[in-house]
Amino acid sequence: MREFTGKVAVVTGAASGIGLALARMLGEQGMRVALADIEAGALQNAALDLEKRGVEVLAVRTDVSQADSVNALAEKTLEVFGAVHVVCNNAGVFAGGVSWEAPLEDYEWVLNVNMWGVIHGIRTFVPHLLAHGEEGHIVNTASMAAVTSIPYCAMYTMSKHAVLSLSESLYHELKLRGARIGVSALCPEIVATRIGGGERNRPAHLKRAPGAGASPERDLTEQAVRNGIRTGTPPEQIAQRVLEGIREDRFYILAEDVWRRACESRLEDIRLARNPTFAPPVEGDSS
Ligand SMILES: NC(=O)c1ccc[n+]([C@@H]2O[C@H](COP(=O)([O-])OP(=O)(O)OC[C@H]3O[C@@H](n4cnc5c(N)ncnc54)[C@H](O)[C@@H]3O)[C@@H](O)[C@H]2O)c1
Repeated sequence: MREFTGKVAVVTGAASGIGLALARMLGEQGMRVALADIEAGALQNAALDLEKRGVEVLAVRTDVSQADSVNALAEKTLEVFGAVHVVCNNAGVFAGGVSWEAPLEDYEWVLNVNMWGVIHGIRTFVPHLLAHGEEGHIVNTASMAAVTSIPYCAMYTMSKHAVLSLSESLYHELKLRGARIGVSALCPEIVATRIGGGERNRPAHLKRAPGAGASPERDLTEQAVRNGIRTGTPPEQIAQRVLEGIREDRFYILAEDVWRRACESRLEDIRLARNPTFAPPVEGDSS
């Protein structure tokens, strides 16, 4: 998709981090942007921010884990903007922990938002894009966690593997139907966002019981994610990659080399049917 001006984008998780950077970037291309997020105050601030930049926006408080809520987002967007061309299924949360110790609530929360959020986004918006027949693009935010082999955050990595797999199926199916809809799986490295503070948006019924699943490994993993806000890649850089990805109809929007090597190591394990190599990406390693 190369022509953005006057077209309509929907971005979930748009009140912060990568989603906000995507919304700004798409607005700069002349798109009208529907911002969706569960966090009402931050969503209003994001809408004001974009309006100040001269972007026509619509803010819809949305819980992507609920099909009805995503349907309501689509209805409101169509009512106000009349169509949708670009959909960024981006909202996501993180929890760490050892797989057999993590409470069920962690699995449910992370999978509900990260995996079901994308399922609802696709089931809701793709039929609309197909019906109007104009050029469109779906960007699903996965992660380099979707293509690497990492311990201590199974619920997160599972959710991202699922997003990647769903995106690959979607890609093939749309191509086989001859649709003019591109698909990208966004796989970022560690990005400077508020994902380490995502607990603020965890529903009350899925909160961890005190001490449930606690471990030194969980502490280390969640601390590393919180540190990302200082050390991670700026979200604007990720948004630029996405812009190129949409323009060039690129499916895999991947992180830099150090992460690619961790991905190659996993693929090589599978190719050779050897046991998983513990080869976490080492930032700053340029070998
Ligand atoms: N930050 C990273 O290092 C990193 C790396 C790879 C992938 N990602 C992915 O990027 C995406 C965006 O995350 P971010 O890093 O910008 O984090 P962020 O916390 O800054 O932004 C995520 C946004 O999603 C919203 N959200 C949470 N639950 C929601 C729900 N149920 N419905 C709607 N909105 C909801 C939050 O309110 C927040 O505004 C996520 O899918 C995340 O997994 C992040």
